[in-house]
Amino acid sequence: MRAMSIDRLKGEEKLGKNVYDDHGSILLTAGTKVSDKYVDKLKLKGYIQVYVEDEVSGGIEVDDMLREKTRRQSRQEIKQQFNNYLDKKDIDIERIMKCVDQIMDEILSSKEIIFNINDIRTKDEYTYAHSVNVCVLAVTVGAHMNINMNRLKELAIGAILHDVGKIFVPHEILNKAGKLNDAEFDFMKKHPKLGYDILNQKPQITPISKNIVLMHHEKMNGTGYPLAVESAQIHQLTRLVTVCDMYDAMTSDRPYRKAMKAYEVIEYLTHLSTTELDREMVDAFRRFVAPYPSGVIVRLNNGHKAIVALQNKDMLTRPIVRVYEDEKGNKLMSTYEIDLKKNLTIFINETLDE
Ligand SMILES: [Fe+2]
Repeated sequence: MRAMSIDRLKGEEKLGKNVYDDHGSILLTAGTKVSDKYVDKLKLKGYIQVYVEDEVSGGIEVDDMLREKTRRQSRQEIKQQFNNYLDKKDIDIERIMKCVDQIMDEILSSKEIIFNINDIRTKDEYTYAHSVNVCVLAVTVGAHMNINMNRLKELAIGAILHDVGKIFVPHEILNKAGKLNDAEFDFMKKHPKLGYDILNQKPQITPISKNIVLMHHEKMNGTGYPLAVESAQIHQLTRLVTVCDMYDAMTSDRPYRKAMKAYEVIEYLTHLSTTELDREMVDAFRRFVAPYPSGVIVRLNNGHKAIVALQNKDMLTRPIVRVYEDEKGNKLMSTYEIDLKKNLTIFINETLDE
């Protein structure tokens, strides 16, 4: 199975997983052939990608860590609670905590706790999907740190609520297609403090979760906002959320730029780990977030085309790939797999949008 953009469907693929609507009801079941009429239905619901089982991807497992149903319900809950605050000046923390418990349960019960997802994106309002993704990333990486469950939950709550202050930022600024001007950026820079002020009224939220919300845009070298503090004052778990936040933002399509690929963003974050980001957190992130998720199509350095079949969990940069096309673009009569961890002269040059 693999993730495929709706625009690339030929009408012969079968769905690899159930597709849900925002309320968690099944829209289409796994195994359904995605004919044109279904493509229209999916587009109408805001889907831009689906999991399909096709000739190339047969038998490849994609562990999405979180059931799609849970992911959608969590987004809805975040949206509902953020809007509640705007309408009634209240936010139901218990309901958000329930979501976080469910997210943590699902991630912690996955076979190998690595982030191996070519995330299925919809055109949902960005902030809600982003909040859930950052939570999933933070819990995935945090689960490998030597912290107890209570601490992990504080991390998860801070992560899912990190951008709650954006409810006060006007739509025109959040979704501006170009670069923000000074006045707009000044407004944007207020969102961490605005979010902190909302949560400060809530005794159930611990100081660490509040610190995450207040400081997720602070940088190790003091160039962040809103306080421009230096590393010593930024909690370790906040530094992790900063890395997860940047990763998810950069791998998402935004009105002002296209999404970057996972491996490109990971390289970029590594570069920033000498200045703005915490090196230790970036290192942990690299160990547990796959730069070439299973099901992604790649071009190898010998020109062959392959699909990522399985991760080597102790070396995510060198997965096992299934080669299906030669350097001239001819489909192979029979595919074969190469373990890049054992064949060190072969490596991945790029991932392809196919
Ligand atoms: Fe933010």
